[in-house]
Amino acid sequence: MKRITMVVAMKQEAAPLIEKLGLTETNDTNPLLPCKTFAGEYKNLSINLITNGSDSVHGVENVGTQPATLAAYEALRLLSPELVINAGTCGGFSDKGSKIGDVYIGERIRFFDRRIPMGDHYEAYGDGNFQCEVAVDLARKLDLPTSIVCTGNSLDMSPTDEAILRQEPMVNKEMEAAAIAWVASHYQTPMVAVKSVTDLMDSKHGTAEEFASNLALASRNLQEEVLRLLDLLARQ
Ligand code: ADE
Repeated sequence: MKRITMVVAMKQEAAPLIEKLGLTETNDTNPLLPCKTFAGEYKNLSINLITNGSDSVHGVENVGTQPATLAAYEALRLLSPELVINAGTCGGFSDKGSKIGDVYIGERIRFFDRRIPMGDHYEAYGDGNFQCEVAVDLARKLDLPTSIVCTGNSLDMSPTDEAILRQEPMVNKEMEAAAIAWVASHYQTPMVAVKSVTDLMDSKHGTAEEFASNLALASRNLQEEVLRLLDLLARQ
């Protein structure tokens, strides 16, 4: 049976997947950490799902690269999956053709806000740039668009961020994928990022408002496309 771990940042993004797959909570990880784990079986796949959990001080969902690194590390160390799926939401640019609720697969995953101008090697290290060969093949079979998934720790977008993001052909902005890809690279485990658009970063509306209004819709679309991906993986 193939072991698959889904790393999902927020409970709102994970809820439709947990419900559709009938996953149950397992408490697999170190109890000192905020992550939450769920498990179940789907067709011939053994599925684990880990979320970042919530912040005990502020009562909000943990988002960004530190919780993503921690969750990915716990999942890879304890569960030894054969494939990591990072399912989540993202921003897109309407002038590059993105629409609310569109779902993309990351062909490459990079940081966009780790600028380390200390020579080519540090610059390349800062950007990360993790190639996702498995993902490109899966996207083709699912007829889903691919994009460059760009990770940073801010929901808003500074002019410098935008200039860097716009250097990429098709781009999605989010807050976890590159951190997870970095952990997965240490475990030599392939990763697929599946990202559903909650907000258009070049629209007149504020990103936070668009994100909140479209989170449920984008998470439902995410669940549908992840299910198609699992169906494909179950047949392979
Ligand atoms: N998640 C959803 N939309 C986002 C955006 N615009 N930036 C970062 N993370 C996001």
